[in-house]
Amino acid sequence: MRIIRKVRALTDWRDALLREGVSIGLVPTMGALHNGHRSLLRAARLSCDAVVVSVFVNPLQFGRGEDLARYPRRLSADAALCREEGADVLFAPTLAEMYPSGFDTAVIVRGLSRRWEGQFRSGHFEGVATVVTKLLNLVRPQRAFFGQKDYQQALLVRRLTEDLDLGTRIVLCPTVREPDGLALSSRNAYLTRTQRRAAPVLYAALLAGREAIGKGVRSGAKIRQIMRRTVAREPLARVDYLTACDPTTLKPLARVTDAAVLLGAIRIGRARLIDNVLVKR
Ligand code: PAJ
Repeated sequence: MRIIRKVRALTDWRDALLREGVSIGLVPTMGALHNGHRSLLRAARLSCDAVVVSVFVNPLQFGRGEDLARYPRRLSADAALCREEGADVLFAPTLAEMYPSGFDTAVIVRGLSRRWEGQFRSGHFEGVATVVTKLLNLVRPQRAFFGQKDYQQALLVRRLTEDLDLGTRIVLCPTVREPDGLALSSRNAYLTRTQRRAAPVLYAALLAGREAIGKGVRSGAKIRQIMRRTVAREPLARVDYLTACDPTTLKPLARVTDAAVLLGAIRIGRARLIDNVLVKR
C-alpha cells in the first residue's frame, strides 16, 4: 500500500490506472478508523480493482466551537487498518495540499444542506460538499462508498455528484453498531464510561419509532413523541432533533404512509451523536 501526501502524486497514480481501464473505488474518511470505516473498505475492495482511502480532517466542515482541535488523529493505526483490508492507496494530504493559499471556492447543495444537521451545524454541509467534490475530482472513482450512519451526508453527496455530472456512483453501506446498538463513530471516544452506558438510548428511540410504525401508528407527531419519550428516560441525554421524514427529500412527514427515514441527534456531555433507521413499507 502506498501512502500519498501530495495531490500531484495522487493524480499521476490515478492517470496511470485510468489509462489501463482499472476501476477505482474511493472511501473518504477523517481517520480514527473503526469497523464502520472497515466495512466501507471491504465493500470497495469487493467491487473495484483499486481502492483509495482518504484520511483528511477537513477544517471547512467544523463550526466555531466544535471539536476540530481535539478530533482524534492516528495515522499510523489508520494505515495499518487500510493495509489489513487491502487498500492500494492511503491518501492523507496536508492542509496546504487541499487548500493552498488563495483557495476561495465552495460547493453548496441548497435544499438538503439546510435541514436537520444543517440547522445545528451551520456551514457543515458546505464544507463536506466542497471537500468531497475535490476528492472525487482528484481520484475520479467509478464508485465512492458512504455509510448510512451519516444518511443526510450520503444524500447530499448523491445530489452533488448528479448535479455536477461527476460520474461517480455513490454506494450506501449499512451502519455498523456496537452489540448494544450504539453506531460506531470516531466521536464515541469523547464519552466517559457513564455517558457510554447512556449512549444506546438514541438507537433505542429510533427502534421504538420504527416499532410504532410497524404497529400501525401513522401520525408523524405521535412517532416523534414516542422517540422523545424514550430519550427522556435517559437523564444524561439532550435531544437536538428526532424526526420521521421522507427518505429522499428529508422533509418531515405529517403522516407515515410510505417509506420513511427516522433521523435523530442527541447530546451526551461533550459528545454529539447522530443515527437513523430506514422504514420500508
Ligand atoms: P467520517 O466521519 O470519518 O466517516 C467516513 C465514512 O464512514 C462516512 O461515509 C460515514 O458515514 C462512514 N461511517 C462512519 N461510521 C460508520 C458506521 N458506524 N457504520 C458505517 N459507516 C460509517 O463522514 C466523514 O468522515 C466526512 O464528513 C467526509 C465524508 C470524509 C468528508 O470530510
